[in-house]
Parts: sequence; structure tokens; C-alpha cells
Amino acid sequence: MKFSVRIIEWQNLHGRNNLPWQTNDPYKVWVSEIMLQQTQVSTVIPFYENFMKSFPNVLTLSKANLDEVLKNWAGLGFYRRARNLHQTAKIITDKYHQVFPDNYEDLVALPGIGESTAGAILALAFNKKGTILDGNVKRVVSRYLNVENNPRELKQSIKPFLYQNSPKANYRSFGQGMMDLGSLICVKEKPKCDLCPIQKTCLSFKKQDFIKTKKNTITKTQESFHWFIYQKNNKVMLCKNPDEGIWPNLWVFPKRELFQTKQDINELPSFKHSLSHKDFHISPRIINIPDDMETDDEKTIWIEKNKIAKLGAPKPVLDIVKKILNQNDKGLL
Ligand code: ADE
Repeated sequence: MKFSVRIIEWQNLHGRNNLPWQTNDPYKVWVSEIMLQQTQVSTVIPFYENFMKSFPNVLTLSKANLDEVLKNWAGLGFYRRARNLHQTAKIITDKYHQVFPDNYEDLVALPGIGESTAGAILALAFNKKGTILDGNVKRVVSRYLNVENNPRELKQSIKPFLYQNSPKANYRSFGQGMMDLGSLICVKEKPKCDLCPIQKTCLSFKKQDFIKTKKNTITKTQESFHWFIYQKNNKVMLCKNPDEGIWPNLWVFPKRELFQTKQDINELPSFKHSLSHKDFHISPRIINIPDDMETDDEKTIWIEKNKIAKLGAPKPVLDIVKKILNQNDKGLL
């Protein structure tokens, strides 16, 4: 049986067919694909649902202000994706009158849409020929051909293989099937070859040689800082980040001391928060402030702890707030 037929039949029986973005609405497919670029499916689902409630279609997204969009992106990381999403929504609305283009050239010309995302939108939303090259698909094909999973092989063998073995119809099931196979069967460690629909012709299986791709050895820069968590009246102080740099436009704890107080400082354990290129080592300290003490720093606000998520704050801020709330409940702070 042909490669693509085996994938399509397997997808229909065993693949993922209940993901919330699996529709023929290109807006939904596009938003999900941008979220899935650097984030895994289980993490994306609640963010996706929330995003769709805030911005149910391309028009609402294009009319929103960037602040709102970033707020809805808070916790997903790689915030450039949210800016590109906003930019592209405006282009789709203004230039394309809210109708998504269904051809490769127009799609890749949009901010944040590269070769693979354009392929995914074509295949998944429009059921047209489109090549998806996400991490799972690259692993499946590199193993099938028993070649290294590196940029050279991607160009020389992986991409040409996908192109030549694409079906003549059913592009949606084929694209989804290749991703599902990578995520459910041909997993990184201990692939489940006994359940694989393409095992018989898989060269890595035949040779019992699953080429290990070299680990990424980039060294990340390290940065250490404090977070000053000022509390008064069940509120905490936050300041707004600038709209460039890490956590753009989101609310975080001040990194420097804003009050001269003689109050006790409660040091929380330091923790590490990793980004793609950087590790932060954050030492939070909680300081209770007397009711009448003010600061004239304009960019700060006092806010109830349970309203912070709505305001827009990155994950480590929300994690700390949750921890403080729990400890408060137990009378520890
Ligand atoms: N990774 C990237 N796109 C995906 C999709 N549509 N479904 C599952 N995983 C994905």
C-alpha cells in the first residue's frame, strides 16, 4: 500500500480528531498553528480556547489593541508570535477583506507565517496540498529514511520525500497523520514501532538503528535578580513592562527597591525560569508595606491578587501569586 494511504488510514482510525481547532475555518487553524509553533498541544488547548473567546474571528483580532492581544498571550511565551498574529489579522482584514488567502505565496508573505505554517494552513484548513514540517514530522521522515534530522537532510531528502509522497487528495488527513504519528507512535524515546503503519518499509526499523540527533549545545546567558513583592491590604504592587523585550506590556513585580522600610523581609526560595536563550534566577522577597505609605512611581499599581491574571502577567508572576495566596490561606505569611 502507498505511503500516504497507510498514513491516511491510520490517521482516520487512530489519530487525533477532536482538537478544538480542527475545523475548516482558516482563522482557527492559523491561530492554533501559531500557538503550536513553540508550544505543545496540551499546553496550547486552554490558551486557544481563551483566545477564541476574546477574539472569535479575524475582524475582532484586527480591531483589538496590541495590549489586549499580549494579555491574552500571557503565559505562552515567544511574544513576537502575538505581535505577528495581530499584524497579520490587520492585513487579512484590510487587504483581503477578512478572507484568508488559500495559496502558498500569499500565505508565506504574511508576518509569522513560514513555510511549514503555510503548508499547515493549506492542508488543514483548505484540504489543499501543503507540506507540514513540524518537529514530529521531521523526526518521522528522518527515521523512515534513516538519515540525520538536520538542515542538510531536511533540504536534500526529508522535504523531497514529503513532496513526492504527498497524496492526490485528503491532504488534511495526511498532514495531521504525519504529525500524529510523530507525537503518538514515533516518539523521541522508545518509539512504539509495533503499532506503526509504516514499520514494514521504515529503514530505521529495518536496521534497528534510530539515529540520535545531536543535542543542542547552545549555552544560555544567566541573569539573576530580585523581585520585590510589596503587599498591603491584600494587594500587591506590579509595574508594567515596556512593549519591547521580554514579557512585553505585561505586569511584573518591581526588580528594584521602591520603599525604604524597616518591615520584615520574607525571602522566598530562588527559582529558575528558562527562556529559549536565557535562564533567569529569580529571588522573590515579600515585604509588607504600611497602609499609608505611597510611592510616586507612575508605572506601578496596587492590585488584588486574584485580579492579576486578568490584567496580564507572565507565568512566573502568576505562579508566585498562587503560592502566596496558598500560604496566606494557611496563615504562613
Ligand atoms: N503541531 C503543529 N501543528 C499541529 C496540529 N495541527 N496538531 C497537532 N500538533 C501540531
